[in-house]
Amino acid sequence: MKQLFSGKTKDVYELSDGNYLLEFKDDVTGKDGVFDPGANTVGLTIEGAGAAGLRLTQLFFEKLKEKNIPTHYIDANPEEATMTVVPATVFGQGLEVICRYRAVGSFLRRYGKYVEEGQSLDAFVEVTLKDDERQDPPISEDALDMLGILTKEEYSILKERTKGISLVVKEELAKKDVELYDIKLEFGRDKNNQIILIDEISGGNMRAYKDGKYIEPLDLEKLIVL
Ligand SMILES: Nc1ncnc2c1ncn2[C@@H]1O[C@H](COP(=O)(O)OP(=O)(O)OP(=O)(O)O)[C@@H](O)[C@H]1O
Ligand SMILES: [Mg+2]
Repeated sequence: MKQLFSGKTKDVYELSDGNYLLEFKDDVTGKDGVFDPGANTVGLTIEGAGAAGLRLTQLFFEKLKEKNIPTHYIDANPEEATMTVVPATVFGQGLEVICRYRAVGSFLRRYGKYVEEGQSLDAFVEVTLKDDERQDPPISEDALDMLGILTKEEYSILKERTKGISLVVKEELAKKDVELYDIKLEFGRDKNNQIILIDEISGGNMRAYKDGKYIEPLDLEKLIVL
């Protein structure tokens, strides 16, 4: 097995059949020992965080499969905290697509003059560049097109897919009286140039609240995965 990449929260390997294996690590993003899904640094290591992230990811990707939403998911091994996926190429050097139901995090930091904390947002979608050095800057549809990262047609597919996928997650959480405030997704192109959801869907990629209280990723996994 050839290691292709070591990310902040996962290692990526190439399998002999050409598929990729994602190994979820116990490292989580944050700053000064405090978890922050929006952070660009590994802030802390929590035992069992990798396995918990994988279990949530597996649950959501299985749901998406049931609904025929195209993703990279093939299967998962909860004991090893690994997931087998279809290889994809990312847009430019990688994008993150965020869907927001309430104003928190970087949205609130940017637009705090115009919104109140926790104000409701109608599945607002925005795209950021994966660029740690530049703190993952938000990028407009026009800029994505102009810079040759994404065509306008691809942008509209991405936006609609993001809303659909986020709603699946939101409804799944709602079954346990958990409210999704925002979620961060990644997409890529498969070998047939189809746009597919890649990466993970875990507590580390979203903000979820219960009774107005933020739920830490590990607690979220315990609440959602039976
Ligand atoms: N199916 C796939 N094909 C190709 N690359 C993938 C696929 N699924 C996920 N990836 C990539 O694998 C890497 C996973 O590692 P990890 O999540 O630790 O990334 P990171 O970019 O370092 O951190 P962050 O999540 O904070 O952006 C990411 O770069 C992600 O884009
Ligand atoms: Mg990642």
